[in-house]
Amino acid sequence: MVSPSDSDPAADALPDYRRQSPAVAARFAALRQRPVVLEIDRLGRQFAGEHGPVTALRDISLQIHRREFVCVIGPSGCGKSTFIRLLAGLDTPTSGRVLLDGKPVTGPGPDRGMVFQGYTLFPWLSVTRNVMFGLEMQGKAATEAERDALQWIDLVGLRKFAHAYPHQLSGGMKQRVAIARALAASPRILLMDEPFGALDAQTRAQMQAHLLEIWRNVDVTIFFITHDLDEAILLADRILVLKANPGEVQELIEVPVPRPRRLDQLTTPEFLATRRRLDELIHPKVAAHVASERLPIVRLTQLGDDVE
Ligand SMILES: Nc1ncnc2c1ncn2[C@@H]1O[C@H](COP(=O)(O)OP(=O)(O)OP(=O)(O)O)[C@@H](O)[C@H]1O
Ligand SMILES: [Mg+2]
Repeated sequence: MVSPSDSDPAADALPDYRRQSPAVAARFAALRQRPVVLEIDRLGRQFAGEHGPVTALRDISLQIHRREFVCVIGPSGCGKSTFIRLLAGLDTPTSGRVLLDGKPVTGPGPDRGMVFQGYTLFPWLSVTRNVMFGLEMQGKAATEAERDALQWIDLVGLRKFAHAYPHQLSGGMKQRVAIARALAASPRILLMDEPFGALDAQTRAQMQAHLLEIWRNVDVTIFFITHDLDEAILLADRILVLKANPGEVQELIEVPVPRPRRLDQLTTPEFLATRRRLDELIHPKVAAHVASERLPIVRLTQLGDDVE
């Protein structure tokens, strides 16, 4: 009989991704005791498509605990953005419901902070004024709003740029301002939809470290969508894996990598075991697919030699 170990002995030396060290198991036990901040109850969303209804999300149930970090991954089009828009109250479910601190979500509110991939700062306002904006909307006086804003700007390490304008900042810095602005309103939960998707690899790694540091210092729960499997493992307590058509829960994984997390954990057995499981869930047919599907590319080069 041929076992997987015959083809890939190194991979099989990895532990089961469900195995947790006593410290990690104790952390999850404590986490489950914390109050539920967000309750997602049989959530579904259908859209009217050209050829009939499209079920973007079906029957999603999940309870997220206070100060938990949940990442969501899944193939393109599986309903991740639809999901986060429902949590934000920017869209209405066709079935099920969302409860924040036990109260039904019926629209957007300051108890949910949002950070998306595109830079959403006001270009005509300075960093400080961008962060102050939501505070003033909540009715805070300008001096108080400015004092609070500067605290958040400190927290994301941008004090030197407090008077700069968005066009003077790098992509990573803009996203740090967006995080400061979202946190300034003291949300119960931070909703992040691929917030680092447009950043280069090095800046992205820095932002992951910054976000973990910020999360350690702030009483906030994080719901974070990403395409990047390593990013999900590095950041999350639990990873919700969705499948497409319709978007449904495929698996909910408790990440066995101990905290505090660091980039050098990317090669630990627990990390690699989780990575292998995510690969199995997300890319099961990639190899076969690549082999069977060729792009209809027209030959544009006049040079005779082939490159491969
Ligand atoms: N307003 C809408 N009207 C009709 N169909 C929609 C609408 N919004 C989303 N959909 C459909 O719902 C499905 C899920 O879309 P969604 O944008 O949530 O996916 P996603 O997982 O965020 O994708 P990506 O990874 O590419 O960002 C897709 O089939 C999409 O075409
Ligand atoms: Mg999306």
